[in-house]
Amino acid sequence: MQLSTKHLLGIKELSPSDISLILSTAQQFKEVLQRPIKKVPSLRDVTIVNLFYENSTRTRISFELAEKRLSADTINFAASGSSVSKGETLLDTVNNILSMKVDMVVMRHSASGAPHFLAKHLPNTAIINAGDGINEHPTQALLDAFSIMEKTGTLEGKKVVLIGDIMHSRVALSNIYLLKKMGAEVMLAGPPTLIPRHIEEAFEVKVEYNLRKALQWCDVANVLRIQLERQNQVLFSSLREYNLSYGVKTKMLDELGKDIIIMHPGPINRGVEIDSDVADNKQSIILQQVENGVAVRMAVLYLLAGKKSD
Ligand code: CP
Repeated sequence: MQLSTKHLLGIKELSPSDISLILSTAQQFKEVLQRPIKKVPSLRDVTIVNLFYENSTRTRISFELAEKRLSADTINFAASGSSVSKGETLLDTVNNILSMKVDMVVMRHSASGAPHFLAKHLPNTAIINAGDGINEHPTQALLDAFSIMEKTGTLEGKKVVLIGDIMHSRVALSNIYLLKKMGAEVMLAGPPTLIPRHIEEAFEVKVEYNLRKALQWCDVANVLRIQLERQNQVLFSSLREYNLSYGVKTKMLDELGKDIIIMHPGPINRGVEIDSDVADNKQSIILQQVENGVAVRMAVLYLLAGKKSD
């Protein structure tokens, strides 16, 4: 089985069978990662550059670890400290790196569409989107899906609510695409100022402005970070007010009379969108999401490396 695409630019471009293939391959790599020797030689002849124009902890470390577990050669590039500060363009930077015989590019960028731009100009190099602006974060959605399936066995028919800053969240958009393609029911919950207008019709999702009702409805709650760095206007009165109305709290969860799975892509604003005791309780799979990120990214790299050599 092969992916239908040479790049991973977004979940939007993947078919349900692409998604299933990535998730089943990730399952095999998760088993490899439980062994005493966690390394396989699959990408021994492949060189990968991790090009991070925007800050990251989880995604950057997880891609690098995935590459090392697959025996690839890796180069890490951070825009700060590079010739980007001297005015070098994205395309010039990447062309210079590729001239050193690099096979794959993993890129995070604050501009939506930056990886699509690269893929257009460099069709023979596999480009993997590690988060572009407010557009997509496909490997996050894949690891979220993998983590839900690990708990529930399937995505089909599962009720998943994405809570909070939908407007500025690339994690939300990738999750919406993926969950809808795989047969889950999706609800978006949060203040009206953080949920784009008409999203209900555009994506066939539910919208709920009352957190308690949203939690009552769902099997899984994926709580999103308030992205203050991407907000250029005041969209709610204060972080304290936000926490009072939309922060996920133990008391409310206890009153539901059922256990729901709590997720968060990180980094967490503790005491804003989620209280610490919820983030750290037994319903939370936040650290399992991070763990699964390595296996999922191994799967993506492995499958795209195979596609490249067609
Ligand atoms: N979830 C996520 O993308 O985290 P980082 O920004 O730390 O990579």
